[in-house]
Amino acid sequence: MIKPDGVQRGLIGEIVSRFEERGLKMVGSKLIQIDEDLANEHYAEHADKDFFDELVGFITSGPAFAMVWQGADATRQVRSMVGKTDPAESAPGTIRGDLGLDLERNVIHASDHEDPGSNEREIQLFFEETELLEYSRIDESWLYTDED
Ligand code: CDP
Ligand code: MG
Repeated sequence: MIKPDGVQRGLIGEIVSRFEERGLKMVGSKLIQIDEDLANEHYAEHADKDFFDELVGFITSGPAFAMVWQGADATRQVRSMVGKTDPAESAPGTIRGDLGLDLERNVIHASDHEDPGSNEREIQLFFEETELLEYSRIDESWLYTDED
């Protein structure tokens, strides 16, 4: 999910392009205004942290762009493309390492591959089933070895 800072800075296209070019397939996306209830639920794991109120204020401060991407080991690969939580510690070439400087305003959220089920939980939090589409990308046979 591209956070409100990324949307306001005009980075939706840049970020979508990175995932598309990697070969991941977008199966759902939408611009959303996150309200406080949704923010509280989404970041429930951080409810006791000192940055929580500030974080909820930030994530509800303007439109965010939610996305669902599919592909081989997608959750892990997206996290590695996103970089570390702190952009200052993220390698150049990563989204946060190329596009951010601030620990809170770090451009993008991604489900945690080290927290099994977080991807499914977050997809259900942000999307109806009818908003997720099944289709083939025309380059799939060139992206993946046919092992049949
Ligand atoms: O987003 P990520 O999973 O990499 O990090 P997190 O530890 O789950 O923290 C969620 C979000 O809280 C981060 O992406 C930052 O926007 C924010 N945060 C913060 O403002 N101050 C911190 N010390 C840690 C995180
Ligand atoms: Mg996290």
